[in-house]
Amino acid sequence: MRVLGIETSCDETGVAIFDSKEGLLAHALHSQVELHASYGGVVPELASRDHVRKVLPLIQQLFHDAGVEASSLDGVAYTAGPGLVGALLVGASVGRSLAWSWGIPAVGVHHMEGHLLAPMLENEPPPFPFVAMLVSGGHTQLVEVARFGHYQLLGESLDDAAGEAFDKTAKLLGLPYPGGPELAKLAEQGDPSRYRFPRPMTNRPGLDFSFSGLKTFALNTLQEAEKQEGGVISQQTRADIARAFEEAVVDTLLIKCRRAVRQTNIKTLVLAGGVSANRRLRQRIDEMMNKEGGAAYYPRPEFCTDNGAMIAYAGCQRLLAGEAEALRFSVQPRWPMDALVIDD
Ligand code: KG4
Ligand code: ZN
Repeated sequence: MRVLGIETSCDETGVAIFDSKEGLLAHALHSQVELHASYGGVVPELASRDHVRKVLPLIQQLFHDAGVEASSLDGVAYTAGPGLVGALLVGASVGRSLAWSWGIPAVGVHHMEGHLLAPMLENEPPPFPFVAMLVSGGHTQLVEVARFGHYQLLGESLDDAAGEAFDKTAKLLGLPYPGGPELAKLAEQGDPSRYRFPRPMTNRPGLDFSFSGLKTFALNTLQEAEKQEGGVISQQTRADIARAFEEAVVDTLLIKCRRAVRQTNIKTLVLAGGVSANRRLRQRIDEMMNKEGGAAYYPRPEFCTDNGAMIAYAGCQRLLAGEAEALRFSVQPRWPMDALVIDD
């Protein structure tokens, strides 16, 4: 089964071709970072319009790179949610229409299921069952994955997602959008012992998260430092605050992952979503899983953030399981993952 995947849920246009026998044949990505940078965040209407401009040329480039003809495809998968509604509608309408014109089935994919399955594209994919921590700009979730299509939500953020907290704190520190990777870079020069940020919701039971307080803590720390340093804080102080913030997020995520692994007695942990590209997080999670006698799995860094490959992969599995949309499409800006049961 050979599937074209289309991802347009936010600010990246991603396309890919996955073949269930031959693996990933090609993928291409157009990032809108420059388009949104001067606004300090994603402008939904600009995102939709840019997807409209880029998605078809990117698909043409993909066929060219893969040396593949459209006639060899067996299906089309597009991200149907969650995400920005206008952006989702671009990928969904293009995906559904192409599938109709080629006379092949189409399937709508859940963006977070795509992230969750992204490590399956690696040479050593994680074995089922596993615990997955999805850490992106819009979601922070712990999910028990029994097998493909069987997901149980164990816990999630009650307010900001981890990536959102990275982005908002980066903005406070005067870093350009998208802030997460920039903050991580700055933190590398920071002294971890100068400031200590709280580890929210770690000293009570449960697997939920809350990250909105950390950004307020960062603001207060920044304002206090500004007072002490006469109005303009030094580069070192900014790096120290970035480091303390990153340590707090990493520690909090690690504590909840360890709790989930112990609670479920599943010793395979998958990290996915944009924040799982964070080097410090990977290093600390690897150490923790070693101690627990298990192992952690991640997508390659370029497949941690949004991409078409994960949608092509997840769509291929859904089509193989017999799913397909009728001759219509819909998108769901909000979409709980528990609703994704595969009948077997
Ligand atoms: O999965 P993703 O590309 O998009 C969503 O589905 O949200 O995740 C993007 C998020 C952004 O908040 C970005 O700042 C964060 O992932 N991110 C990082 C790193 N790389 C991306 N956060 C911390 N450290 C990184 N290295
Ligand atoms: Zn994403």
